[in-house]
Amino acid sequence: MTYIIRNNKKITLSLLILVFGFLMPLNAQIIHINTNDNSLIFKVDKAKKLHQVHYGKRLSSTQGLIHLTPVFNEAYPSFGNGQSDEVALIAKHADGTLVTDLYYESHEQTLNDGVQTTTIHLEDEKKPFYVNLYFKGYKQNNVIEAWTTIHHKEKTSVRLDNFASASLGFKAVEYHLLHFYGSHAREMQITQERLSNGIKTIETKRGVRTTEYENPSFMLSLNKPALEDSGEVVAGSLAWSGNFKLAFQVDDQERCQMIAGINPFASSYTIAPDEVFKTPKLIFTYSNKGKNQASINLHQWAKKYNLRDGNKTRPIVLNSWEGAYFTFDEKRLKSMIDSAASMGVEIFVLDDGWFGNMHPRNNSKAGLGDWQVNKKKLPNGIKGLIDYTEFKGMKFGIWVEPEMVNPKSELAENRLEWIIQRGNERQALLQRNQSLLDLSNPEVQDFVYNVIDNILKDNPRIAYVKWDANRNIQNFGSTYLSANKQSHLWIEYAHGLENVYKKLTKNYPNKIFQSCASGGGRVEYGALKYTHEFWPSDDTDPFERIFIQWGTNHIFPPIATATHVTNSPNHQTGRETSLKFRFDVAFAGRLGIELSPDKLKKKDLDFAKKAINSYKDVRDVIQHGDLYRLLSPYDDDGYAAINYVSKDKKEAILMVYSHAYHRRLERNLVRMQGLEKGAIYRVEEINKDEGKQLITVNGKDISADIFINVGIKVGLRKPLTSLILKLTKVN
Ligand code: DGJ
Repeated sequence: MTYIIRNNKKITLSLLILVFGFLMPLNAQIIHINTNDNSLIFKVDKAKKLHQVHYGKRLSSTQGLIHLTPVFNEAYPSFGNGQSDEVALIAKHADGTLVTDLYYESHEQTLNDGVQTTTIHLEDEKKPFYVNLYFKGYKQNNVIEAWTTIHHKEKTSVRLDNFASASLGFKAVEYHLLHFYGSHAREMQITQERLSNGIKTIETKRGVRTTEYENPSFMLSLNKPALEDSGEVVAGSLAWSGNFKLAFQVDDQERCQMIAGINPFASSYTIAPDEVFKTPKLIFTYSNKGKNQASINLHQWAKKYNLRDGNKTRPIVLNSWEGAYFTFDEKRLKSMIDSAASMGVEIFVLDDGWFGNMHPRNNSKAGLGDWQVNKKKLPNGIKGLIDYTEFKGMKFGIWVEPEMVNPKSELAENRLEWIIQRGNERQALLQRNQSLLDLSNPEVQDFVYNVIDNILKDNPRIAYVKWDANRNIQNFGSTYLSANKQSHLWIEYAHGLENVYKKLTKNYPNKIFQSCASGGGRVEYGALKYTHEFWPSDDTDPFERIFIQWGTNHIFPPIATATHVTNSPNHQTGRETSLKFRFDVAFAGRLGIELSPDKLKKKDLDFAKKAINSYKDVRDVIQHGDLYRLLSPYDDDGYAAINYVSKDKKEAILMVYSHAYHRRLERNLVRMQGLEKGAIYRVEEINKDEGKQLITVNGKDISADIFINVGIKVGLRKPLTSLILKLTKVN
């Protein structure tokens, strides 16, 4: 169904009644963007100005709304029309003026397959300058995507200095902002603060590895801090692989306005007449049932609409990095493959170090850019390894870092102009001994595409590609972009990356792609559209991972989160942990192994085999079910707990972790969520440490009521211990 409203001229009475269910005054109108439980409503006033009037619980009737005076600023505030708060748009017009004053022109809405698409056309009062606001309402998941296009028909180019994806207004007594911060090997830590008057921004200016220090995601509690299962909260994320900025301004009227989009920092962007500037999508959801429901909305929406092959169950990976690093040959890898296969692993992924001949990649100092297999290490090529891996019943995956180049490489020697520099007279800065290729250049995009295309063409049986990126933009100079477009580099880099992603997705629909950037530097929905999963962190210490995964699952689904069992003592932190604890923490996402399995003791190998088998049995619940956060690792009592429930509620998995010493404390009751009310579940402890009795209910049938309202006692007294229970509905 499509309905078009153009200054009230083309609209018929019957259509009005059909769409809005009431008769509107001649010059004012309501635009209702909705999902099953949420409404985002705009009002066009008599002066044809567009204002948001509501975002929150779905209104069953909008009758009378038209009479309310909106409390919020214009829906897409622009600079120069009297507005003194943050703006979404600043444009320097062809005549040099900075004023833009946008008015409603028309809008249309369509509804297809549970997705309502709304386009609102705005135009400047005096100039041929146009802004379209787009909103997609995903009915079932209560998620809205918002983005904007900007174009003009002025005589010469227009320079855009601000170009947000969306602006959203909130009205509450207090605002509490939960967001994510970190560093390399400590990503997605949670912090929450009450917003005071002024502006709080979440942003990055790194260009690549954009999500390592902050993530373009948030949860904004209204009135008081939302709990997991109660309170009002808006959660969202910007789908963009470049610089981002999310600004939250609390003003003198106690309103909070969020303006989110590409970070305009040093990014003025010039558009010629008729050229369209399109912003990335802001994804958001509202829940009045607490934070957990907001996370479930985002997870299930992503699996259906934004994560590549979100409905497909993911295989178990063995990644060679922490087991072998750069030091391997065919014999070493074959030994790892043998034991990986015997454990039940499904894909063997060869990480960094397999390429470069003139400049062999034996450490991070050489070889990046020279994507030919190193003949000394792998005399039978990748093909020899694939044959062996497949012979052992597994698939083969490979690591690449195609955007990067070591100065010590044939590529750098031959293609200096492809490297992002700092002008001619300044020395370019290296990070991890490497430079960055200029993806704003279509030739470089072709090169990056061809790196992967050639590898996959030569080895069509490769099933999985890990795409890494281990530096930021940092230098700022493109030999491709003209002098007056140098400030486009931040944005064009991200566009170039997306072009390559798109082409690969189109031409390789059946390969699995992992996005990695020194760990969690590309954990965002822009990349996830084209990738199946991300590597959340190079910190694989299970104690640390409990926190990293806890933060990550606020916004991103467990199926996309690669969680690997690595060595003890851990290579980053030196902490020793049991194999069970490492497995139990890695069970919370897409399970993988990242150690030398051939070096495990028999006892550990046996445990690993059983654990991998158990994961296969329960992975559909973990990868496709709903996740509930029960006990936060951030609380003082030294536990963390989550449970997963399958869509049909027939199966559930409870995971409990202790990360402190609990003396003889007996009060550690864990209450579950999401089970079918009135149902009875049979309990089975999995990944059991032989001889240890952690619960008294193993093998027993227990009602959902008890799990939800009474809770069960788990015997975890020591730090770094854990428990996993599988619940199967018996009636
Ligand atoms: C950084 C990644 O996060 C690691 O997993 C590994 O792939 C290394 N790069 C390889 O250089």
